[in-house]
Amino acid sequence: MRKQQIITIAGAGSTRTPALIGTLVTMKERFPVSKVIFFDIDLERMQLIQDYCELVLKTHSPETEVIFTNNEETAYKNSDFVFCQMRVGKNEMRSLDEKIPLKYGLVGQETCGPGGFAYGLRSIGAMVEMVNKVRSYSKDTWILNYTNPAAIVALALDRIFPDDQRIVNMCDQPYSMMVSFAKILNKDFYNLRAKYFGLNHFGWFTDLYDVNGTNYFDELKNYLMMNDFKPYNAEQRTQSWLDSYLRVNKMMKAFPEYIPTTYLQYYFYQDEIVEESDITCTRSDETTATREKEVWDVCKLAVGSEDMDQIPLLTSPVFGSMMVEVAESIAYDLNNEFMVITKNHGLIENISNDAIVEVAGTINKDGLHGRKVGSVSPFYKGLIENQYAYELLTVEAWIEKSYQKALQALTLNRTINSIDKAKDVLDDLMEANKDYWYLT
Ligand code: G6P
Ligand code: MN
Repeated sequence: MRKQQIITIAGAGSTRTPALIGTLVTMKERFPVSKVIFFDIDLERMQLIQDYCELVLKTHSPETEVIFTNNEETAYKNSDFVFCQMRVGKNEMRSLDEKIPLKYGLVGQETCGPGGFAYGLRSIGAMVEMVNKVRSYSKDTWILNYTNPAAIVALALDRIFPDDQRIVNMCDQPYSMMVSFAKILNKDFYNLRAKYFGLNHFGWFTDLYDVNGTNYFDELKNYLMMNDFKPYNAEQRTQSWLDSYLRVNKMMKAFPEYIPTTYLQYYFYQDEIVEESDITCTRSDETTATREKEVWDVCKLAVGSEDMDQIPLLTSPVFGSMMVEVAESIAYDLNNEFMVITKNHGLIENISNDAIVEVAGTINKDGLHGRKVGSVSPFYKGLIENQYAYELLTVEAWIEKSYQKALQALTLNRTINSIDKAKDVLDDLMEANKDYWYLT
């Protein structure tokens, strides 16, 4: 049997935690866990998932020890893996990140544009603190981070902890898109391989084939030129997500050579997206009313229940399996295939070496290994360098507490492109975030 692991879930009060635990127990032969430590600074919020997670583990993995705590030492002392999923400022701040930009006719999104900028400045501080805490107890613990905006968080952690090779930043979106490609092509997801380049939430698929070398890229592109792109779990998605996937079709009509990630829509269709947005009901309101409510409803069933007979086991192919598979690939040195967020170092030849890029690659006991992409053509190079400069200025604004750099970052961001609008939205966001970040 494989060596048993001790894992900590930091930010365990997240609505993503129940499906992560459900997936963990279904994968327990592949990734056996002797102890799960649920850690959150907000015990009241963690309480909402506690009974459910306890019941799932008791039922499906009774041998696993379970701890719920808000004590950092208990959380981090002996852990092999910290799965980290923080949302600093919770949904209340997500809501403001989405709504404040809309007041100025700008894209309101949690990870892109001014909202992503504000969320980024909140996440960096909390993540730096977390890494310092974990490292004060252990140098060897792997920190698997999916705190957003991953692009900015990854860049900040790279600058602040340049020698730490055990921080892994992850995003499910390329993985999730590949699960959707597999469904469209009617192929086994685990046999598919992709070529992909860009930054996180800012990338393109440039090829798709299987382990035997059969290429499916033209077939897939032809399909997407003729048919609506639907995510693999379309039934569970709200209209705004379905619209995001449809804009992949639209982007491909303009530039058919590659398949863009859904998030690029925010940089190419700003006006249309702002026009369609409803400032009284943004994505955070939608998630609260749909995905999050569904999770809370299932969790409530577990309160006072002795068994799971009437209670569904929540699992998730992306927010569950992907996370556990990454840990599995590290723990047992499997060299499995993922999209990895890693320092460029020449992987994309003609863009900054210090950028944190997202490319196809493998993961093993030494961490992430991106595959070389070669050079990219001027359109993509221009977009990536512009976005990287925005990300870098955002990180430097946080490190130096610099209003100037923040203003430069937002002026450069393709969703804004105006000093006046950048200033208006920055001042408003700064006021709304005064408990979290401060610039002079
Ligand atoms: C994708 C992205 C994540 C993001 C999530 C938001 O999965 O890769 O980075 O957090 O979408 O989903 P939501 O349902 O909360 O809008
Ligand atoms: Mn993501």
